[in-house]
Amino acid sequence: MDHSFSSALVSPYVTWDQLQLNKTIKLGVMASGSGSNFEAIAQAINEGKLNGKVEVLIYNNPQAKAKERADKFNIPSVLLNHRNYPHREALDEAIVEVFKAHQVEWVVMAGWMRIITNVLLKAFPEKVINIHPSLLPSFKGINAIEKALKAKVKMTGCTVHLVDLEVDSGPILIQSAVPILPDDTSETLHHRIQIQEHHIITQGIALAVQREKNN
Ligand code: GAR
Repeated sequence: MDHSFSSALVSPYVTWDQLQLNKTIKLGVMASGSGSNFEAIAQAINEGKLNGKVEVLIYNNPQAKAKERADKFNIPSVLLNHRNYPHREALDEAIVEVFKAHQVEWVVMAGWMRIITNVLLKAFPEKVINIHPSLLPSFKGINAIEKALKAKVKMTGCTVHLVDLEVDSGPILIQSAVPILPDDTSETLHHRIQIQEHHIITQGIALAVQREKNN
């Protein structure tokens, strides 16, 4: 099958020139699994596309591959295993403590599979960014890719947005649309969505910083 039409559409149309930031932003990243979006951020910084520094990675799962990626980029990483905390607020308090100790200004949830609380949002108001594998507001929550396949929609994608208290909601910064092909499985579709995620995650961060400056 010819997959050439499966390249994605990104909105809004932005160029890296338009996304230049005057000041180096200090990022704290949270990841639960593979960490490919975390690596995309670190790589974009190394390539000079994003004027930022990842001060620290927090991961909640001892097996998370994200930790190995942090080591590769010489980025400090801290394991905060959610199983060791009595409730969500306690985990978020520990997260805030680590981020504040590293002078983090912006928080990026790059595949963070825990629901966050007001504890984190209050510490970083309008400065928590999330990436989600659907065109929000469609298919919120877990298994977004399976939900899109089940709904038999022809188009899905990914969204970078500012986080508010409701799961997978808050102002949308950037989206990329990915067509669903007739023979797609959740693996093949997730693979194509992730290619787009790796572009928009860094663009979304830059847009969030610009948005804040314009406010
Ligand atoms: C990404 O596809 C991200 O959109 C998704 O987890 C994956 C993490 O991949 N996030 C969510 O589903 C959050 N609701 P990665 O660990 O390779 O970056």
